[in-house]
Amino acid sequence: MGRLKAMPSDIGLVTGASAKSISAAANFLRAGKLVAFPTETVYGLGGDATNSEAVAHIFEAKGRPAFNPLICHVSDIEAAREIAAFSLLAEKLAAAFWPGPLTLVLPRAAPSPVSQLVSAGMDTIAVRVPANETAQALLRAVGRPVAAPSANASGSISPTRAAHVVASLGDKIDVVLDGGTCDIGLESTILLCVGDKVSLLRSGGLETGKIEKILGSKILSASPDDAENKPLAPGRLKSHYAPRTKVRTDISRVEQGESLLAFGSDLPEGSENARAMLNLSDTGNLVEAAANLFDFLHQLDETGASTIACAKVPETGLGVSINDRLRRAAAPRDND
Ligand code: TXA
Ligand code: MG
Repeated sequence: MGRLKAMPSDIGLVTGASAKSISAAANFLRAGKLVAFPTETVYGLGGDATNSEAVAHIFEAKGRPAFNPLICHVSDIEAAREIAAFSLLAEKLAAAFWPGPLTLVLPRAAPSPVSQLVSAGMDTIAVRVPANETAQALLRAVGRPVAAPSANASGSISPTRAAHVVASLGDKIDVVLDGGTCDIGLESTILLCVGDKVSLLRSGGLETGKIEKILGSKILSASPDDAENKPLAPGRLKSHYAPRTKVRTDISRVEQGESLLAFGSDLPEGSENARAMLNLSDTGNLVEAAANLFDFLHQLDETGASTIACAKVPETGLGVSINDRLRRAAAPRDND
């Protein structure tokens, strides 16, 4: 990855970073690079949400042990409607609180330009319209949804100044847009909003009391025991996306009737018998493999095979997250 280029803001200007650094940062994003940028909550580590390899690089830079789904940042509600399906209730919440520190988890639009890796293979997507002026200017300049987790290494606290980002991830990202200190300093409140139901996935910068006033009712907190919400709330809850087809991992032999999810140039024994084969990365590149993972699992789920047999993936770097997800997909299903 490239060197860090810290871009100083125009001193004292309410517009945050200068037009020139915004447009340079937007070009970096459109070229698939990572850009840390300020929002009113915390700094985000952004990548082009429509580019699976850029999204894989986000996970690599954060060093997350698993693929938690990411929030997609867009400049306004029109752009949000292109990537998510809004119920009347979701429209009402967006009208009341966007731009601002609220993230809505909604059904993904179909078809969607957003990489499957952003949603960790699920059919929901987290969307947010930040109010921060630098973030707004950047998102308008990029013209694409930007996937961004908080810009800190996994397990450390969220950054509220450009210097925090540089200290935590400086050697792993391409650009940090310096927009000063984040006003709120606490991550966004996340609501799961499907049909006429709203539940709280994470409390944050927007007080729930304000949300309840708009809704005219109490919001329920999605509990880990709430079976109905399980597939929608990874990160907090146990159940994750899994293909309908049975999954076997770390295989050394492909059996009759199985489809193969391969990795690298060394194919397992019996590969010639596979009903279908997709290779996560012919060259054994883990970033490429992560970028392909959910898309390929979805494709192999449609082949009518008895089982998806997954070749061994090395337990290093993004391989740890890939194996985590494959082993979860192979584990006994809660709802079986
Ligand atoms: O304020 C914020 O929200 C900051 C700024 C940068 O926007 N972002 C942030 O992202 O805090 P992150 O990745 O650190 O936290 C996002 C949370 C994760 O816990 C993830 O599991 C949840 O959002 N999430 C994302 N997509 C989801 C989905 N489809 N369903 C349920 N939860 C989702
Ligand atoms: Mg975070």
